[in-house]
Amino acid sequence: MQQLLDRDSHEVPVTLRVHAAADLGDADLSVDRYLSREFHDLEVERLWGRAWQLACREEDIPEVGDTTIYDIADRSLLIVREAPERIRAYHNACLHRGRQLRSEPGWNAELRCPFHGFTWRLDGSLKEIPCDWDFPHVDPAAFALPEALVATWGGWVFINMDPAAAPFEDFMGTFAEHFPWRQEDLTKGVHVAKVLRANWKVALEAFIESYHVIATHPQLLVSLGDANTQYDVFDEQPRWNRMITAMGTPSPHLPYEVSEQDIMDDLMEQFMGPGVTFPLAEGKTAREMMGDLIRGQVGGVTGEPCEVSDSEAFDAIEYYLFPNFVPWGGYSRINYRFRPYGNDPDMCIMDVMLLAPFNKAEGRPPAPPVHWLGPDDEWTDAPELGLLAKVFVQDTFNIPRVQRGLKATVKPGVTLAHYQESRIRHYHQELDRWLQVELAPSTNGHSG
Ligand code: FES
Ligand SMILES: [Fe+2]
Repeated sequence: MQQLLDRDSHEVPVTLRVHAAADLGDADLSVDRYLSREFHDLEVERLWGRAWQLACREEDIPEVGDTTIYDIADRSLLIVREAPERIRAYHNACLHRGRQLRSEPGWNAELRCPFHGFTWRLDGSLKEIPCDWDFPHVDPAAFALPEALVATWGGWVFINMDPAAAPFEDFMGTFAEHFPWRQEDLTKGVHVAKVLRANWKVALEAFIESYHVIATHPQLLVSLGDANTQYDVFDEQPRWNRMITAMGTPSPHLPYEVSEQDIMDDLMEQFMGPGVTFPLAEGKTAREMMGDLIRGQVGGVTGEPCEVSDSEAFDAIEYYLFPNFVPWGGYSRINYRFRPYGNDPDMCIMDVMLLAPFNKAEGRPPAPPVHWLGPDDEWTDAPELGLLAKVFVQDTFNIPRVQRGLKATVKPGVTLAHYQESRIRHYHQELDRWLQVELAPSTNGHSG
């Protein structure tokens, strides 16, 4: 990977020159981690109840009064734009008899419970109790909606249900320094959420290594350097890791030589369809040519010249911020999120969110609603995903079958590659640190 960066036609950002391969050991990971109710319950209490996690994009709630919902296991948060520059997250349950305050995103002047009409202002203070003469025992000042912590970064909104949590900036460590691409300048153009029959970690792990490409996506090998992928895991940075997979270079697994023109033809076929060719000028590599095409395209949309490196324009530069956020760096549009679906260790939700540049003079276009796919729907039922859908179909063909195999196996643990699957081990070690913390008993049965 670093040799390809040496030959980039443009200057490469410093962070891509960093390579950290911490030695994390080789012990098997227990199968129970993916299957057991006890492990899932611990995650709900000690991880999801305490860690900063991705809830939504800022453009999901652009106007004061806009609300959206972030569900995680049995917990649910109502994310509300209270003021142009202030977002709040309320536990999505009425303080009267507990009805969900909202079950759909949308605009509200105030938060009025549909059951009996208890009403709160957008700032969470109590506005009205119908027949308040019947509630002399309720102190209006103490009847504000309980809230979670909120932080924003890169146009993303993060929440934390633990009122005593350290700030998000501390939580993410050096992640922001190593992610120099301004996602706040992009906007969400596609959001597809698919329910999968697997533990959330099984799904996540299918997307944070390129080791599976040879068997799962063999059609990509002519133009993807799978086994040349750089994996970065830092001893002293437990909350994030990264991989860089080069595009426009052949897989080292290929048993035959391919020319730059072969690579270009392969890419054109993938991106533009069969029969489309793009003759390379003398001395031009496929990577450089793809870089030129993408730089031209981005410049065409934003109206400003785009001078990013070939690598940023085209490679798969994928970060993982523990526990649920997987943004791609460079000029890629791709971002994932993984989380349990309901309170079930055998089910999860994978969100795919594609960000796009937009013309600032014309204003930010509205974000689309979430397109939900059930466990039996195919990614290809979401045509807005374009070419990605077919690749995701290959990935998600494995995912429920991994969950099924983990239940059938007589081997107590899964065995990981030392380097190519180091990101998986890295986050499991961090997960262990969260789960081993003993919590003080809480009064309402929830942590935090
Ligand atoms: S449950 Fe909300 S007003 Fe009664
Ligand atoms: Fe894949």
